[in-house]
Amino acid sequence: MNKQTVLSGIRPTGYLHLGNYFGAVQNFLRMQDDYNCFFFIADIHSLTTHPTPENLQSGVRQVLAEYLACGIDPEKATIFIQSDVPEVSELYAFLNMNAYLGELERTTSFKDKARQQPDNVNAGLLTYPVLMAADIIIHKANFVPVGKDQEQNLEMARKFAKRFNRMYNKEVFPIPQPYTFGGGDMIKVPGLDGSGKMGKSEGNAINLFEDPKSIRKKVMRAVTDSGPTEMNQQKPEAIQNLFTLMKIVSTADTVTHFDGLYNNCEIRYGDLKKHLAEDIIAYTSPIRERIIEILEDDAYLAKVAKMGAEKARESASRTLNEVKDVIGFRKLF
Ligand code: ADP
Ligand code: TRP
Repeated sequence: MNKQTVLSGIRPTGYLHLGNYFGAVQNFLRMQDDYNCFFFIADIHSLTTHPTPENLQSGVRQVLAEYLACGIDPEKATIFIQSDVPEVSELYAFLNMNAYLGELERTTSFKDKARQQPDNVNAGLLTYPVLMAADIIIHKANFVPVGKDQEQNLEMARKFAKRFNRMYNKEVFPIPQPYTFGGGDMIKVPGLDGSGKMGKSEGNAINLFEDPKSIRKKVMRAVTDSGPTEMNQQKPEAIQNLFTLMKIVSTADTVTHFDGLYNNCEIRYGDLKKHLAEDIIAYTSPIRERIIEILEDDAYLAKVAKMGAEKARESASRTLNEVKDVIGFRKLF
């Protein structure tokens, strides 16, 4: 039976953090055996914020090494860099002819970005969902595992795929579905600053590449309160967040132990934080060591990127030829 196709991308704008790992990368790891998986580094998308060539290159290298260190297997999945597949930019140009100013202006991510960077409201930002649609449909992806923040962009991709199929009266593209492994809700990894999610832009991230000393420092600084005053009292958000993180990285026994102490009003947050920090370190240390190792091996990184680019181009050019044929481009010479 033909495997269904899964595709997801990440912009190379910083280190991977625990939120990315437990929210996104872990899903990929579970899928790479059973699906035809494409994981790519969205370096063209990252140009909207005008990185220097040095920053662009080091960002791409870092994310590539981090994907590999997490266990994404380049023999099973196709890992590639967006700019290595020029077919995507060609499809982006075609799709742009059927993407309308009104609908692009109305997307929340465009409105947010336009507000955040009023001096740099470029056309790339406006057509960001069109390029994202091209990324997805050029590989005829069936599923796209992304977080809630990408829901609207994915909805636009579905719209553009349907519009193309309808316009040419041909089912060229499958309609890509959002995806969470096992059908459950997306995990939301909380921040340690009392409320909300862990994120790069939130400035509260613990990175996979973080050294143990810095992890201890960040966890010990986590927001808490003066402690429970009644037995079995409900946990306020900041405390709940610590427990949520603990559920992700620690054993069930550890969670039960500290839960018991909380319920008996005997908890000492310092002890909980020390334990949590060590459990995070136990999780991230082997990944961090692999990231360091892989970053030293330029030949390996180059080999993976080359292999991924070849596989991705093969798949992309197959779709692009079909698209050109459907649009009506004819070879005259
Ligand atoms: P950030 O929010 O730090 O900028 P990205 O936007 O690059 O991260 O997200 C990359 C992927 O990681 C997306 O699929 C996103 O949904 C997921 N992700 C990011 N932060 C979290 C979090 N705190 N919990 C769960 N998933 C997350
Ligand atoms: N927009 C996504 C983000 O900011 C990255 C991305 C670009 C992407 N193209 C994609 C994700 C295609 C999934 C599929 O996180």
